[in-house]
Amino acid sequence: RSYSVSSAFDFAANMFPLSSTAAGGGSGYAPLGAPTANGGVESLEKHKTLTYLNGLSLIIGLVIGSGIFSSPSQVGSQVGSPGAALVVWVFAGILVWTGASSYAELGGAIPLNGGSQVYLAKTFGELTGFLFTWVAVLVLKPGSAAIIAIIMGEYFARAFIGADAETMNPWVSKGVALVGLVLVTSLNCVSTKMGTRANDMLMFLKFFALLGVAVIGIIVAATGISYKGDAHNDWKKTGWFDNTSSDLSHWAVALYGGLWAYDGWDNTNYVVGEFRNPQRDLPRVINTAMPLVICFYVLANVAYLLVLPLDKVNSSNTVAVAFGSQVFGPVGALIFALIVSASCFGALNSSTFTSSRLIYVAGKESYFPEIFGTLGVGNADRQSLNTQHTRSWAIKKLSALVGDGDAGLFCTPIYALLLNGILTALYCIVGEFSTLVTFYGVAGYIFYFLTVLGVIVLRYKEPNLERPYKTWITTPIIFCCVSLFLLSKAVFAEPIQTLIVLAFIVVGIPVYYWRVKGRDRPLKREDASDSQPWWKFWK
Ligand code: ARG
Repeated sequence: RSYSVSSAFDFAANMFPLSSTAAGGGSGYAPLGAPTANGGVESLEKHKTLTYLNGLSLIIGLVIGSGIFSSPSQVGSQVGSPGAALVVWVFAGILVWTGASSYAELGGAIPLNGGSQVYLAKTFGELTGFLFTWVAVLVLKPGSAAIIAIIMGEYFARAFIGADAETMNPWVSKGVALVGLVLVTSLNCVSTKMGTRANDMLMFLKFFALLGVAVIGIIVAATGISYKGDAHNDWKKTGWFDNTSSDLSHWAVALYGGLWAYDGWDNTNYVVGEFRNPQRDLPRVINTAMPLVICFYVLANVAYLLVLPLDKVNSSNTVAVAFGSQVFGPVGALIFALIVSASCFGALNSSTFTSSRLIYVAGKESYFPEIFGTLGVGNADRQSLNTQHTRSWAIKKLSALVGDGDAGLFCTPIYALLLNGILTALYCIVGEFSTLVTFYGVAGYIFYFLTVLGVIVLRYKEPNLERPYKTWITTPIIFCCVSLFLLSKAVFAEPIQTLIVLAFIVVGIPVYYWRVKGRDRPLKREDASDSQPWWKFWK
């Protein structure tokens, strides 16, 4: 069985510039949808450039974002005791590892860009794949961007209002979030390169912040220096597990908080097609990244608990600022606040980048109105823009400044970017951190569950499919059982949110029949292919 890689549906293919620069390559700018001779869209999967290390920094850079600096309060306050909170952190990490390992089997067997979309289409048919794109564009992407923006706003506001100001008007942080969002969206409209360059630098900050927290925690533990007002730290005198909640719904909501911090573990699967040796490297990337991140997160949580009073850890959305202020005073608070908000800004930027590509390809495929599949500067204009003598001196200078080379300014999917920006702003305005995290979790885990279920289904349906990496069959089973538990608990713990998510999915079904089934022209990716279209590759 051979796959036609060039005909692969590559909605994530255009993420390549990001993955390459995020991986520190810095030179991976590929113009969006470069036209090919037959008028199709060039598949970036032809350029197999990603290595093991690229993949590793891609996944770690995506996973470590806002969550470890903000979710500890959601986890701790739900389960009641610090010991139970640590259990949730370890458990969430192992759970996503089982998920990621199942995704590794799928990625090895179907080494195409697109992640869940491709696996779902293969297992359950194109409708399921479409619904994934639909929910990703309307809920998952803008929802997660809103969470990151809100955390960015909170940290930024804390930097100036002060770590200890107990009450902060939520509109202050939301205002900052919206300003950040406008900034990121316009940046991405003007030029892609500018954003990805900034990201490369911001990734290091994130590492240092987390490493700093962990090291300080270890020093505190080793030397016994601890929070001075020990009266708050009742649990240090009593037990780690006192007050543990016995309500499973609380555990489920806590788990959603932890899972948010680990989210992004499926992102290497979006670019599998671009690995030089996907069969070997994808599982290796996943099986190194996951344990590393789990260690980092558990260490950071232990550090928070050792340094801060429990009620602070359990109530603050900006626990890293409280941590910095506790250890180094106001300057520490300021530094931590700025580092974390910069890291969130970077995460928001990558998220904006990838979502716009997702919408762009959805527009190209007529999943969405076709305007979303067009660039700010059309192909024809771009051709002329790119012939040097037609470019004005000013444009050339500006292009050189932002490093866009020949691609030109505004050669970006601006309609997709605008749609994404507007949706994200709406979520920012109506939502609040912990509700959004649960909302995102419910929507996300429906599709993670289905995708991992696909591992089991495919073992029966296609026993002869070549699987270079075969996960232990209990791994997908564990993942499916726990995600089912999570989803069932969400129905009771957050019924309204669950209903909204389900409504989004259900509305997608008629849209599929209207836009996809009834289309009178073949898919763009079909004309782009020189052989079989991707969704028929298993027929
Ligand atoms: N784990 C990240 C954080 O803690 C969030 C990742 C968002 N999801 C994504 N697919 N980019 O901020």
